[in-house]
Amino acid sequence: MNNLIIKNAHIITPQGTSAQCGRQMSELLKIARGTVEVTDGRISYVGENLEEDKPGYQVLDAKGRVVLPGFVDSHTHLVFGGYRPDEFVWRMNGDSYMSIMQRGGGIFNTVRATREASFEDLKVKAEWFIDAMSRMGVTTVEGKSGYGLDKDTELIQLEVMQAVNNDPNRKVDIATTFLGAHALPQEYAGQPDKYIDFLINEMLPLIKSKGLAENCDVFCEKGVFTIEESRRLLTAAKAMGYGIKLHADEIVSFGGAELAGELQALSADHLLHASDDGIRAMQAGGVVATLLPLTAFCLREPYARGRDMIDAGCAVALATDLNPGSCCSGSIPMLFALACIYMHLSVEEAITAITLNGAAAIGKADSIGSIEVGKWGDLVMLDTDTPNVLPYYTGMNSVQHTIKRGVLLSPSS
Ligand code: NIG
Ligand code: FE
Repeated sequence: MNNLIIKNAHIITPQGTSAQCGRQMSELLKIARGTVEVTDGRISYVGENLEEDKPGYQVLDAKGRVVLPGFVDSHTHLVFGGYRPDEFVWRMNGDSYMSIMQRGGGIFNTVRATREASFEDLKVKAEWFIDAMSRMGVTTVEGKSGYGLDKDTELIQLEVMQAVNNDPNRKVDIATTFLGAHALPQEYAGQPDKYIDFLINEMLPLIKSKGLAENCDVFCEKGVFTIEESRRLLTAAKAMGYGIKLHADEIVSFGGAELAGELQALSADHLLHASDDGIRAMQAGGVVATLLPLTAFCLREPYARGRDMIDAGCAVALATDLNPGSCCSGSIPMLFALACIYMHLSVEEAITAITLNGAAAIGKADSIGSIEVGKWGDLVMLDTDTPNVLPYYTGMNSVQHTIKRGVLLSPSS
């Protein structure tokens, strides 16, 4: 049933159809005892409680519990073959992420496993993660290719995501991102320009013609793709109508945030080592600074300067970066805890970061990310009356119900 009324809800939501910057991130609408009505999957009323119930609607009494927009995890790599637990242990013993990659492990390890995996293997595995994330309140997730680095496997990764999106009973919508520039495949060793040409001349037009990806991303990093290569790829992608995104300044300070500002990218992601100039460039360019503290945690790296970015007027989003290497976690509860404890975001800022700003980071702030009439009825109900449990239940799930387009998903009471 796609008609739902939630009454007696403590409604908390950012508002608007674009990313919220700086101080705006903490300006949330709060209604202590209100009603959210969803009709045919879309929000049709938000406000004070209504006098009478309507026929044809499932009614849920929130009894004062918190209702938020569904969480938007705007950066994941959730379609992949194999796992890399050994590399995790090597890193715990002092090895570095980049040295493992330079020895042919890291992303290349997952590329080998993904090329060998079947469509069905990849889909079953992605759906396992989707189920887990849905129980933690995620209603939209971004998913990247980038573990094929060849034509067929990149397409298969994107087709897995398309198959999920075509399921009428799907628990999440997936925003699809082409990340062919995740690493230079061994077939193109020493020829990065030739590989970028291949992506621009063959892959981007093909994927566009098949409608398989909305965005294009690049791992812009020392030893992976240079600023110049990234600029060339993303400029071409933007001209073809893709939203553009960057893995920027993750391992070293490299100028990725500056490039994102220059190109007015949808988002720059990671940003552990973003410079002051980079922060200013993102603010000026309207780029969503997408922070992935679970990755910093797993890599034992310092956290991105989330507080400074918000104070500088940036729009900050939070996402998990779920992937088999640097961060094999889609934990929303841990994400809230790390953002509030170590990046000094307030609970309100963290909520905006993983709802409306996450939606903006995937170009969907006009249809999801807040509880407003006309947007999809994607909602989360917590099991308490205060949002402070989001970081306070550290690493523990405080979600009682996840609601996708007006349908109650979990638990089914
Ligand atoms: O966002 N840094 C590049 N990409 C991923 C890691 C991918 C992997 O190690 O498989 C990230 O951290
Ligand atoms: Fe990533």
